[in-house]
Amino acid sequence: MADKYCIITYGCQMNEHDSEIMEGLLRMRGYERVGDEHKADVVVFNTCCVREGAENRAIARCESLRPAKENNPRLVIALSGCVAQDQGRRLLDRIPHLDLVVGTRDYIHLPELVEQYLVDGKRLVATEDIDKPLSINTVPMRQSGLRGFVNIMYGCNNRCTFCIVPKTRGEEWSRPVDDIVREVRGMVDHGYREVTLLGQNVNSYMTGKREDFADLLYALNELDGLWRIRYTTSNPKSCRDRHIGAVADCDKVMENLHLPVQSGNDRILRLMKRAYNAKRYRHLVSLFREQNPVHSLSTDIIAGFPTETDEEFAETLRLVEEVRFDSAFMFMYSPRAGTVSAETMRDDVPLRLKKARLQRLIELQESISAEKNREEAGRVHEVLVEGPSKKDPDALQGRTRTDKMVVFRGNRRLVGTLAQVQITGGSSHTLFAEVVTREPEPLAGAPAG
Ligand code: SAH
Ligand code: F3S
Repeated sequence: MADKYCIITYGCQMNEHDSEIMEGLLRMRGYERVGDEHKADVVVFNTCCVREGAENRAIARCESLRPAKENNPRLVIALSGCVAQDQGRRLLDRIPHLDLVVGTRDYIHLPELVEQYLVDGKRLVATEDIDKPLSINTVPMRQSGLRGFVNIMYGCNNRCTFCIVPKTRGEEWSRPVDDIVREVRGMVDHGYREVTLLGQNVNSYMTGKREDFADLLYALNELDGLWRIRYTTSNPKSCRDRHIGAVADCDKVMENLHLPVQSGNDRILRLMKRAYNAKRYRHLVSLFREQNPVHSLSTDIIAGFPTETDEEFAETLRLVEEVRFDSAFMFMYSPRAGTVSAETMRDDVPLRLKKARLQRLIELQESISAEKNREEAGRVHEVLVEGPSKKDPDALQGRTRTDKMVVFRGNRRLVGTLAQVQITGGSSHTLFAEVVTREPEPLAGAPAG
């Protein structure tokens, strides 16, 4: 019987994709997936540490495997991702039954590390390769078959004072355009129609051959059979006219921009070392909207950064009201050891106040999202039909080009096709619709039937 693996992921899309790559590597060695970590021979906790919550949840779950390890000494337990990179050997002290600590660029050696451990029984820490370029010759075990993530770059060279990512993911390195095109072409051959390009700061994508993000978009836009290109994350600091132009030029590049603002106050933005001010951010948004009028816009915001006053937070609320984001990821500031803000600034906004600010922000954003979604009523959108709705199995779900989730009734045959739907209403997170075209439109590169 084949050995079984279970990978448990906490964190962002980048972490999810790293897990897919580890799955691909284990599958190539004959391992089989199992959903319950108690039935696995290899368990990997792949964890983000950008905020404290995910880290604590993953470590607690890893600790709960102790009896399983005592019953089965051949069980291999690994912890990977940002937490592993950040804490290294200390994790072995903290969790006595943990066997492997695998860093953010070493995970491509996971099967060898497991085998080495099984041979000599020595607990291992593999976190050295942090600044090395990555070359991965494996097909990630992407889950959907229709939409998939593609790493276009690793690491980050920015130094936002709150952020642990540069420490845990190392120096920025961009994969060559032809390498990425090859991977995406392979995905298209397997039926994938949508890719999301992943990087901490896609606007600073720059290869050894001086190819930039716009070059990459133009190259991918040429791929027959690929319908949709998404990308995340854009950084206001390095967003250039050329990128905005490429987004407007390329018909396959979808109409959503994720542009984290973090705060609406200039003093806080300076303390965060974001390298733009609120005026510049507003200007970028209007420039972008001028060229891309139907785009949706999403963002990230942190409430309760050290020394933030009520008035300064109110400026964030004002920016949110003015820009009217379609959606936002909103967080309470969480000091991460090793970051500049944690080392040099006192986390002096009381928790109660942070919570209250976050709550106000969420309420404001939810009301704007709901309002914007209500305005969609009557409009016709193209959706890529993904499958049955998670909330209502009798209905279908898919995303608009603007990255909004739509739930609608329709024939199962629409799954995997582009359908035109007319919006009938919406809540803050979902649009409801009716199908306009009953049968899939014939499309270049579309699978028959
Ligand atoms: N390069 C990515 C950032 C990844 S972290 C980007 O620019 O989007 C994703 C988000 O987590 C950040 O945008 C920020 O809003 C939030 N975040 C990061 N560190 C944080 C911290 N210490 N406390 C609270 N939120 C944080
Ligand atoms: Fe973090 Fe800033 Fe880079 S938020 S990932 S240091 S752009």
